[in-house]
Amino acid sequence: MLSVKEETQNIKTRSSNIRLSLNRDKYSNLTMSFKSKSKIIIKLLFKVNFRELYNLFLAYLTMKRQPLKIKSSPLFLQVETTNKCNFVCKMCYVNRERKNENKKNLSVKNFKYILKRFPFAKVIILHGAGEPLINPSLIEMIRIAKKRELITGFFSNGSLLNKKIANDIICLNLDWITFSVDSISKEMYEFIREKGNFDILIDNMKYLLNLRNKLRKKTEINVLMVLMSYNIKELPKLLQFFNDLRVDKVAVQRVHLTGDDLKRFSKFLVTDKDLIKKIRLESERKANQIRTKLVFQSYFLERNQKRRCDWPWVGPFITVEGFVTPCCVLSDYRIINFGNLFEEEFSEIWNNKKYQNFRKRLKSSKRPKECFSCPYYSKTVF
Ligand SMILES: C[S@@+](CC[C@H](N)C(=O)[O-])C[C@H]1O[C@@H](n2cnc3c(N)ncnc32)[C@H](O)[C@@H]1O
Ligand code: SF4
Ligand code: SF4
Repeated sequence: MLSVKEETQNIKTRSSNIRLSLNRDKYSNLTMSFKSKSKIIIKLLFKVNFRELYNLFLAYLTMKRQPLKIKSSPLFLQVETTNKCNFVCKMCYVNRERKNENKKNLSVKNFKYILKRFPFAKVIILHGAGEPLINPSLIEMIRIAKKRELITGFFSNGSLLNKKIANDIICLNLDWITFSVDSISKEMYEFIREKGNFDILIDNMKYLLNLRNKLRKKTEINVLMVLMSYNIKELPKLLQFFNDLRVDKVAVQRVHLTGDDLKRFSKFLVTDKDLIKKIRLESERKANQIRTKLVFQSYFLERNQKRRCDWPWVGPFITVEGFVTPCCVLSDYRIINFGNLFEEEFSEIWNNKKYQNFRKRLKSSKRPKECFSCPYYSKTVF
């Protein structure tokens, strides 16, 4: 889940230090490029009215002070457009721990309903725990988000991208799409991403890249690799591969542990710190040499780096059922939720006792038990 922070940092840069950790890409996140950041700056500087400007100021204070009660309305939101998926990836709970839950697509009606609750939003991410391209209304949702001039993007496994969808995505000027690719070996890719087909994915990516270039559009086309014991040594080669394909950026994120099944997760966690350091150095050298943009998500922190989570101050994660949760790492509403947007007004949820109490626990020296697996805090892996 791309942490909201890095993207938010973009806004920060532009709009007089508004530190909106929008893109610490946990799942979403993806990190924004200079181009995207510039777009936000321009919007902030030239397109905001007085109420928006005032909300930006309040959002700046929110990020700076992290109060329990928030006066600003979120500038960011992540909406789970579906919780269905056609893959069974090794590290993902969607079709494993959560395979028996009620699976559904978000309707356009509910999407519009959600958006109305966020009049000052500037950034939206359109995936949650599922494959967004399964939802036949995704393109319509992109259209609606872009009409509102939101910076819009999503992650995808890329398997369902056909020519029509590719054309719509590019013509609607989607700001970014990130393909999840954990290996460039067909065998390993299909081992990690059960039910996936490496050749189809690469063909789909090439089609989208060519179309984007042909139409001279600006959609950023990125790759995200989840670093596991299976694939860690591949990273430098993967960089070369996607540099040759001319993707805009390769981001790397570590495994989030989910649920209690640590035994299952322990198979693919990378615990050898020396190996991680070596691969990271080697990959950074390679990226410099071939001039590829490589991003280690912000939670590749060293032990002495300060750990801080901004999500519950920046914006909500909203599940397909309408539940409001703290972030995309905690996308399972049964673990934690602050209320349901389809039953209560968001303004009431945003500052209710549960949300405030969660913020309080996050600020305290002892992290909330729900966050045990979060890369921002967990010291178990790196
Ligand atoms: C949950 S998926 C949803 C979007 C889409 N189905 C996909 O695979 O890109 C979002 C991202 O989370 C990553 N992911 C899944 N399980 C993870 C885990 N346990 N730790 C870290 N990232 C994970 C996926 O690889 C993907 O890049
Ligand atoms: S494709 Fe995405 S949502 Fe589906 S199982 Fe894989 S990581 Fe999870
Ligand atoms: S620390 Fe908790 S709230 Fe923050 S991103 Fe991690 S799991 Fe989510």
